[in-house]
Amino acid sequence: VNITKLYDEAENPLGTVLVFDNLTQLEKAQRVAAWREVARRIAHEVKNPLTPIQLSAQRLRKKYLYTLESDKEVFDLCTQTIINQVEELKRLVSEFSSFARMPIVQKSKNDLVAMVREILVFYEESHAYITFHQIVEGDIPRFNFDLKQMKRVLINLLENSIAVLHAEGIIEIVLSHDKEKQVVRMAVKDNGPGVADEDKLRLFEPYYSTKKSGSGLGLAIANTVVADHGGQIGVTDNKPNGAIFTVELPLST
Ligand SMILES: Nc1ncnc2c1ncn2[C@@H]1O[C@H](COP(=O)(O)OP(=O)(O)OP(=O)(O)O)[C@@H](O)[C@H]1O
Ligand SMILES: [Mg+2]
Repeated sequence: VNITKLYDEAENPLGTVLVFDNLTQLEKAQRVAAWREVARRIAHEVKNPLTPIQLSAQRLRKKYLYTLESDKEVFDLCTQTIINQVEELKRLVSEFSSFARMPIVQKSKNDLVAMVREILVFYEESHAYITFHQIVEGDIPRFNFDLKQMKRVLINLLENSIAVLHAEGIIEIVLSHDKEKQVVRMAVKDNGPGVADEDKLRLFEPYYSTKKSGSGLGLAIANTVVADHGGQIGVTDNKPNGAIFTVELPLST
C-alpha cells in the first residue's frame, strides 16, 4: 500500500491517495521459482548415488544368489527390494528434474484457434460422456507462442477438468482477443465442483494435489510456461458451479 497526501497551492490538505498493489501474481511466481530451485537441488543430489546403489545390488545377486547355501530367500527378497525401491526413487527424481529443468520457450507464429480445435477433436473422441465447446469471440490473430508448451498447458487444464467431471460434464473453451490490453485469452470452463477460495493460490504450487495418484505438477508447469511467455494464469468461479482457468498471453514479443 502506497500513501500520498495531496495539498493545494496554499498548502491546504486536499485529501489522500491510497494505492493498493495486487501482489498475488508476483507472490505466485516467487513461490514457483522457489520450488523450482528446491526441486533442482534435490534432483541433482539424489540422482547421483542411485545408479551405483542399484548396480551394487545387482552385482550381489549375480555373484551370490545361486551359490548361497542358506538364507537364499532372504537374500533374494532384500536385494530385489533394493533394486525396486531405487527404481521408484529414480522415477520420482526424474519427475522432480523435469519440473526444474523445463525446456525454454521457443516462440513462433502460431494459430491458437487451430491448436485448440486439434486438441478438442482428440478429446471429443476419447471422452464421449463430456460435451466440449469451442467458442471463438471475434478474430484471434496469429501470434508468437511456443506451440508444444502451450499444448501442454491446455492438456493439463483439460485433464484437470475431466478428472472432476462425471456424466453431463461440460467443458467450454473460450478464446478472445482483448485489443485494449493487447492480449489473447483462453478460458477453460467446466461445470465441476469448482475451487474453494482458500485453495485458489495453492493450486499453482508444485506438489499440491487432492488426487490419490496426482503429482500436483500440472498447474505448476502450466503456470511456469505461461509466465515464461510473459502471460498470466488464474482461476475464478464458474456459474452456477465449476471452475474457470484463464490463460492470458501477450500478443507482442
Ligand atoms: N478444474 C478443476 N476443478 C476443481 N479442482 C481442480 C481443477 N483443476 C485443478 N484442480 C485442483 O488442483 C489440484 C492441482 O492440480 P494439478 O494439475 O497441479 O495437479 P494434479 O492434477 O493433482 O496432478 P497432475 O496434474 O500432476 O497429475 C488438483 O489436485 C485439484 O484438487
Ligand atoms: Mg493435473
